[in-house]
Amino acid sequence: MTIQTRNLGTTGPQVSALGLGCMGMSGMYGEADRAESIATIHAALEAGVTLLDTGDFYGMGHNELLISEALRTAPAALRENALVSVKFGAHRGPDGAWLGYDTRPSAVKTWAAYSLQRLGVDHIDVYRPARLDPNVPIEETVGAISELVEQGYVRHIGLSEVGADTIRRAAATAPIADLQIEYALISRSPEREILPTLRELGISVTAYGVLSRGLISGHVTPGQQYAQNDFRAHSPRFQGENLQHNLTLVESLRKIAEQKGVSVAQIAIAWVLSRGEDIVPLVGARTRERLGEALGALDVTLDADDLAAIEAAVPADAAAGERYAPAQMAMLDSER
Ligand SMILES: NC(=O)c1ccc[n+]([C@@H]2O[C@H](COP(=O)([O-])OP(=O)(O)OC[C@H]3O[C@@H](n4cnc5c(N)ncnc54)[C@H](OP(=O)(O)O)[C@@H]3O)[C@@H](O)[C@H]2O)c1
Repeated sequence: MTIQTRNLGTTGPQVSALGLGCMGMSGMYGEADRAESIATIHAALEAGVTLLDTGDFYGMGHNELLISEALRTAPAALRENALVSVKFGAHRGPDGAWLGYDTRPSAVKTWAAYSLQRLGVDHIDVYRPARLDPNVPIEETVGAISELVEQGYVRHIGLSEVGADTIRRAAATAPIADLQIEYALISRSPEREILPTLRELGISVTAYGVLSRGLISGHVTPGQQYAQNDFRAHSPRFQGENLQHNLTLVESLRKIAEQKGVSVAQIAIAWVLSRGEDIVPLVGARTRERLGEALGALDVTLDADDLAAIEAAVPADAAAGERYAPAQMAMLDSER
């Protein structure tokens, strides 16, 4: 099957208009079912999704090994269409602890060598540091990825959660395909300075958290409990009064969704799709059912009246709570 496509920047590849984010298949949102995860990746490829997003630190290699198995067991024609986008740079302990970042040139090459092995591929399609390493100038990190491009191990360079100054410095060093950043109806800070900078430089966005980790999917209930190893157990937006407030926004959105005969998640994804041809939402589906719902967003057209109704229901900055806990917010160059 084919679905709509979009370009990753003026220099990057053409990809499906929706990408599949595989992080939740490796424990970030509690337990995931391995067989269902692989079936979801296969279903995505069959539906025409060509972009798979991962990080070498998702489950400390688990996610790359999972994707490798899914690609190995997919029909050859689908496997050949798949593009894998990999984030690197986060140190983790055997207990899963987050221990900081390292994007020095020597580390970049080591991370890449291990990712190529785990993925079982001879090149990575898009390679990006997950966060700005405060100890390493972005020029050095991007320069090291450029060398991997020259050697054929990497095809395109991406960035993640960096601000306008860093984007400019990176783009002055080498061609950048896309910035990966959280962007959603209730996460709109990129609109201030980052999106205009990207558009000036011809760099696209792969948007994550378009459902705010499921919060605005319409499937979260007020009393929902999350296991301690689930990101959402610690996310400010999922706590107490913040959650109650945020779910009132979802109910306002639900009225609009019902009038259009679609789901809340589909409205939220379609809204991100409507923000520009240079934006590719990554959906974090880990079951075929959720994937099917997400793909349905590609058929949702939002006209000016719909967009105005959505803006009135969920104004920018309407969410209660930051998108990360304070220690993680402090790592975001994009929020400085
Ligand atoms: N660059 C970065 O810093 C960064 C950070 C985070 C993520 N990412 C990437 O972006 C991808 C997407 O991010 P995300 O997983 O946080 O985003 P998301 O799509 O906002 O949230 C995904 C969660 O929403 C819930 N959900 C409910 N209905 C859904 C539907 N129809 N389709 C998909 N999910 C639905 C699922 O939870 P249940 O399964 O529990 O229902 C799922 O785990 C990740 O997989 C990862 O590759 C990048």
